[in-house]
Amino acid sequence: MQKLLISGKRKLKGTISLSGSKNATLPILAASILANKVKLNNIPLVKDIFTMAELLRYIGLKVKIKNFKRLIELENNEKKINTLAPYKLVKTMRAGVLVLGPLLAKYRKAKVSLPGGCAIGTRPVDLHLFALKKLGAKIKIKDGYIIAEARKGLRGAQIKFPSISVGATENALLAAFGAKGKTILSNCATEPEILDLIMFLRKMGCKIENFGRKIIVRGNTKSKNFINHKVISDRIEGGTYLVAAVLAGEKITINKIDTNIFKNELAILKKMGARIVISKNSVLIMKSKNLKKISISTKPYPGFPTDLQAQFMVLMTQSKGVSKIKENIFENRFMHVPELRRMGAKIEIKNQTASILGPTKLTGAEVMATDLRASVSLVLAGLIADNRTIINRIYHLDRGYEFLESKLKKCKAKIKRI
Ligand code: EPZ
Repeated sequence: MQKLLISGKRKLKGTISLSGSKNATLPILAASILANKVKLNNIPLVKDIFTMAELLRYIGLKVKIKNFKRLIELENNEKKINTLAPYKLVKTMRAGVLVLGPLLAKYRKAKVSLPGGCAIGTRPVDLHLFALKKLGAKIKIKDGYIIAEARKGLRGAQIKFPSISVGATENALLAAFGAKGKTILSNCATEPEILDLIMFLRKMGCKIENFGRKIIVRGNTKSKNFINHKVISDRIEGGTYLVAAVLAGEKITINKIDTNIFKNELAILKKMGARIVISKNSVLIMKSKNLKKISISTKPYPGFPTDLQAQFMVLMTQSKGVSKIKENIFENRFMHVPELRRMGAKIEIKNQTASILGPTKLTGAEVMATDLRASVSLVLAGLIADNRTIINRIYHLDRGYEFLESKLKKCKAKIKRI
């Protein structure tokens, strides 16, 4: 099994360019089931994207990935479509459940493995099924599979989500694309990745009015023949490198960053005392000293993202006073805490709130990655720790961070995969 070795305390200098967004690419790939020919640019070369590509091939799409160009070409020639998403492909990547909406909309039936829980929480899919039922699908659960059909096709409906879910909003949008009539979705997620999906569906010819938490889709769309789309850059990767730069940077520039969607995070970093110069598509971070404590609470966008909570926690170990993080999205997303404690961090958890005392000297240790963002928080801790940090189970990192080591190495970090 591969490990990462990090020798900490290097002063980082250089430029990091962000990759395409994993969480924007995944639903757009699922949307390609509804299309004929698609060319997607700026895709990140990470494991989850390859798994989704494999799932689409299994379903019957032609999928060609051109690694060098960060390009994926998809074609649905409808010859041999398999409306099944098997367990082996959905179990490693929950976003596999996003093929449910498009399969139902286009082929009127689907059998998709239930994704099950994962390290960060139980992560049910009841809200996805709630929306699809409202659109007229008959759904049962059998042998670990969601078996759904809509013999006469889906019909537009009014759907008010009882709580906000990124994936359920995406699945509902994808299903509404093929539903007859008007669908009104309310209490929707408004993450930038959802806006990218809406842009893509509009390019396919779908009429969508977006009012933030309320989205109106005029469905029964027949896709335009060829769609060319460039995926937005990865805001969570961006936030991760912003934290790395504030922690260990002498002078780091982050490029290909859409600073409009980072307003909150940048404001938090500034409030903590980070020295940041913001331009339209880049951010310059200079050596920052005497960081101040802060309290944050994870919320759906535009609130603070749960996917950056672990990374900011490392920053809080270096800030003066007791900082707090309340995790409101997932019930078990403090798995990095015991590992950070082993490196010397002083963190207490009560209910869903972590209290982090800083500044604390971190020392390298052998630690274990548990999920994607927890893993990267250990990398960040390793960058500032004394001695050597060894991170085990780094396959989690490969699910979502493109060329992490080489991006950090280019900035003079001492990091090696063995
Ligand atoms: C997306 O997951 C992201 N994944 C996650 O990124 C991210 O953490 C999450 O949104 C929140 O921002 C992708 O985009 C592929 P949700 P998703 O449905 O869609 C509950 C990463 O590290 N819920 O918005 O699965 C759920 O349990 C990952 O890149 C239900 O109760 O998240 C959670 O508490 C991890 N029933 C809350 O809603 C449902 O049917 C929000 O989950 C669906 C969700």
